[in-house]
Amino acid sequence: MDNFAQLKKNVMSKQMLAPSLLSANFGHLTDDVELMNNSRCDWFHLDVMDGVFVPNISFGFPVMEAIKKSARKPLDVHLMIVQPEKFIPEIKALGALVMNVHQEACVHLHRVLHQIRDAGMKSGVTLNPATPLCMIEDVLEDADLVLLMSVNPGFGGQKFIERIYDKTRRLREMIDRRNLSTLIEIDGGVNRKNAAALYGAGADVLVAGSAVFGAVDPVAEVDILKGLVPR
Ligand code: DX5
Ligand code: ZN
Repeated sequence: MDNFAQLKKNVMSKQMLAPSLLSANFGHLTDDVELMNNSRCDWFHLDVMDGVFVPNISFGFPVMEAIKKSARKPLDVHLMIVQPEKFIPEIKALGALVMNVHQEACVHLHRVLHQIRDAGMKSGVTLNPATPLCMIEDVLEDADLVLLMSVNPGFGGQKFIERIYDKTRRLREMIDRRNLSTLIEIDGGVNRKNAAALYGAGADVLVAGSAVFGAVDPVAEVDILKGLVPR
């Protein structure tokens, strides 16, 4: 069984959480990575922004290399950039588990998803809140993961868009109807108020930035978001 099949098996018994390091303390980044290494979080979510696809710039390879050195959990890279396919070799060299590209940024999405798989990574396709599920209907078999944005990408700390519950349920139905093992990940405005409902709607992985790093106790917050302890 490859490691993603193993992860899929694991998610049958648990709900996965990927803290977004965008909300970490960049002055002491490795301290926050170490904090999460010692939590029950599942992946590190890395948000790369280019100031073109989204109206903000975050970080690039030097910072991700530093994160990689101290991270003891798989890396889930979310590229909010134009022409993400240009960086497949670099993301592979980083040792990422998942490479997420936006549907809206890829003219030849089918090709890009296969290039990611051919590079030995899991292929993730991301949809902005305004992008309907029908845009990935013909590439669902080519994606190991679908990431639904529950805010407009570009910034941490935004308000969760409620309509994503229904979109998550409909995506779950699409995946189950075709008997696929594609994971569903939700990103943006996830917090202790909506996490359980999102897992209930069919999400496998939740991304949380400000909810984790803005918490008094980020390690305990991971457990709360994953539903491991009552809130
Ligand atoms: C937004 C990013 C998110 C963001 C989530 O563009 O893709 O991953 O960091 O942050 P919160 O959880 O604060 O909405
Ligand atoms: Zn993200």
